[in-house]
Amino acid sequence: MLEHIKKIFEEEPIPTSVKEKMEELKRQGKEVPDDELIKRPSHIEGIRQAGFINTAVLDEVGKQIHVGMSTQEIDDIVSSFTKNANAICAPLHYEGYPKSVCTSINQEVCHGIPSRFKKLHDGDIVNVDCTTIYNGYYADASRMFMVGNVSESRRKLVEETKKCLEIGMKAAKPWATVGDIGYAISEYAHSKGYGVVRELGGHGVGIDFHEDPFVSHIAKKNTGMVLVPGMVLTIEPMINAGKAGVLLDAYNDWTVYTVDGKDSAQWEHTIVITDTGCEVLTY
Ligand code: MF3
Ligand code: CO
Ligand code: CO
Repeated sequence: MLEHIKKIFEEEPIPTSVKEKMEELKRQGKEVPDDELIKRPSHIEGIRQAGFINTAVLDEVGKQIHVGMSTQEIDDIVSSFTKNANAICAPLHYEGYPKSVCTSINQEVCHGIPSRFKKLHDGDIVNVDCTTIYNGYYADASRMFMVGNVSESRRKLVEETKKCLEIGMKAAKPWATVGDIGYAISEYAHSKGYGVVRELGGHGVGIDFHEDPFVSHIAKKNTGMVLVPGMVLTIEPMINAGKAGVLLDAYNDWTVYTVDGKDSAQWEHTIVITDTGCEVLTY
């Protein structure tokens, strides 16, 4: 861990009232986060700054995205905009990932790899997932873009998936559990007849790309880790128009597809648990 980030853990302790409540819940057998998962005010400011840049990158993609553009061009925009902001694209070389951003079209669930040969067609829906490192802090968010004239069913999938993220964020509050987030999302998605991807989920974030806890989007109420003020995590539901099942690309070992070839959508924000609920750090 970077020295300036480590120092903050020593200089800004967890508030006594929070620590006491965590200890009480631990005695009751609840799963509580380690102290390093509780970000301190200066950490949160750092992640917020990374979030500002991440948001500006996605805004820039939104301005330039158009029919006929290749996903490599999206990668170029993300890469150059991020560099200009003195920041780093976290995906590049992350566990061998070859590009700076993920671009997942239609039946691609996530981790679509940008390519010169992959063009956006009229009617496509594409997820652009961007993670920015700034001053050692990580912010992770993704949006759907609708390219040209999109069918009513695709538009609805995109909008209902955004609603799933919002519902998940409402369930993300202090002393609730990560399971409450997945419960709220899956209840809503299933009520609309959609499938909820199980194999991938949200995650703690901020000081590393993927930290604990795993945030499932399909879970039982009152299960999993307790949410404590200062925890920073992503919620990033992947919602399928058809079956929930997914397949991994056998050639690139990254891209995930729906098993039935139907469409999938995803929206993602980085949030911090506050004293009263949660706050989005990637607006
Ligand atoms: N941004 C993705 C997430 O939301 C992770 C992408 S990993 C990569 O967790 F290597 F594909 F970039
Ligand atoms: Co992401
Ligand atoms: Co993420």
